[in-house]
Amino acid sequence: MKKNANPKSSTDKFSTKLGAVAAAAGSAVGLGNVWRFPYIVGEDGGAVFLILYVIFTIAISIPIMMTEFAIGRKSGLPVTSAYRSLAPHSKWGVIGVLGVLTAFLISSYYNIVSGWTLYYAVSSMGGWLSGLSEVAVADYFSSLSADPFRCIIWMMLMLGATAAVVAQGVQGGIEKYSKILMPLLFLLIVVMVVRALFLPNGLDGISFFLKPDFSKLTTKTVFDALGQSFFSMSIGMGTMTTYGSYLRKSENIATTASHVAVVDFMVAFLSGAVIFPCVFAFGVNPSQGPGLVFVTLPNIFNQMPMGQLFASFFFLLLVVAAITSSVSLLEVVVAYLKESFKYGRRKATLVASLLCLFFGILCSLSQTIFSVFDNITANVLMPIGAFLIVLFAVHRLPKDEFRAEFEAHGVSFRLFNAFYFLVKYAVPIVILIIFANGILALLGISY
Ligand code: PHE
Repeated sequence: MKKNANPKSSTDKFSTKLGAVAAAAGSAVGLGNVWRFPYIVGEDGGAVFLILYVIFTIAISIPIMMTEFAIGRKSGLPVTSAYRSLAPHSKWGVIGVLGVLTAFLISSYYNIVSGWTLYYAVSSMGGWLSGLSEVAVADYFSSLSADPFRCIIWMMLMLGATAAVVAQGVQGGIEKYSKILMPLLFLLIVVMVVRALFLPNGLDGISFFLKPDFSKLTTKTVFDALGQSFFSMSIGMGTMTTYGSYLRKSENIATTASHVAVVDFMVAFLSGAVIFPCVFAFGVNPSQGPGLVFVTLPNIFNQMPMGQLFASFFFLLLVVAAITSSVSLLEVVVAYLKESFKYGRRKATLVASLLCLFFGILCSLSQTIFSVFDNITANVLMPIGAFLIVLFAVHRLPKDEFRAEFEAHGVSFRLFNAFYFLVKYAVPIVILIIFANGILALLGISY
């Protein structure tokens, strides 16, 4: 087999360094940061979760992202065939299959939340949220989420937008949007943090978010922190392997992954710093689940000068962030259909979107299915995927070949041995322990 076989033309690579980071960050930064992170922090008792989340992100998720980038770039192929091609006639191709399944399940509920976001963007522009009382804001969300018909319509719009981007191909689609609009979203969130800090009781929210109460540490907290870190960084299911195949050889994998992690963390952290002051100022229950963002943020916009304008921009930019993430999910499914059924890009996109639509409809009809998909993907499938990916890297790739991928084109990576230690021991062992603990807790054995 040819080593480093790369079937893509150079136009498929991202045009600039910023392009590569922006696209990977575009995948990472999305509803996971602004919608999922705060609601999980709220359910898991605040700062203790945050501490675990930071530790996992640095010691576990960044090394996994680097490993995925390296494998993707080395094979030059999307996740569906990367592992298979580097280890022909073996069972490692299962990583690709698992990745497709995970991407597909996430897409099914992700687009529903994207649809809610679009609905909130339109509602803000129309001024329908302006001046509502806190109770009315909460009702606004419950009436939407309990109405499958509306959820499905708005989801279809988002799925359509995602499909339109995917049908154009990677570079034309993603790079353009991520580069300009994501920094804007970031700026807007910073402004919102400043406003949130001055809300009455706002500082109680900050202390919930930042001051750990170790009595709240449970098996679930640990499980959720790992899952949220994987979800937020888009790792363990092949998106970053696929994006790795678009990276240039001269790109420094270690710094790219670290930059993505920093940006991703900052957006999540700042979202928490907006939402928790609001939670305490407006008497919202922090552990109320997936609606948290939607029942808190409209209140703060109602108390900001030019709030309607801010709200409209914020939700619109969040829509864009959601699209750059859902594009990277759909891309995994599309690559699979292209390869396995020899479909063209357009046909593959259409079929993948229709499948996601069908499962999306199921999720919007049943909150249970929605939550099961949400939990199983982040807390079970992504850790299993990540576990297999690191096993593959250390057991299947010769160490010097793996290292060479990080040091291509004279890039130096002095911390390789420390990194390798994490990938070889820390990552798989931590995932195993957390899993074993979780299974025991599920079975009711222990604590
Ligand atoms: N990381 C994305 C987000 O935070 C979600 C995602 C997960 C995207 C996995 C691609 C793959 O919104």
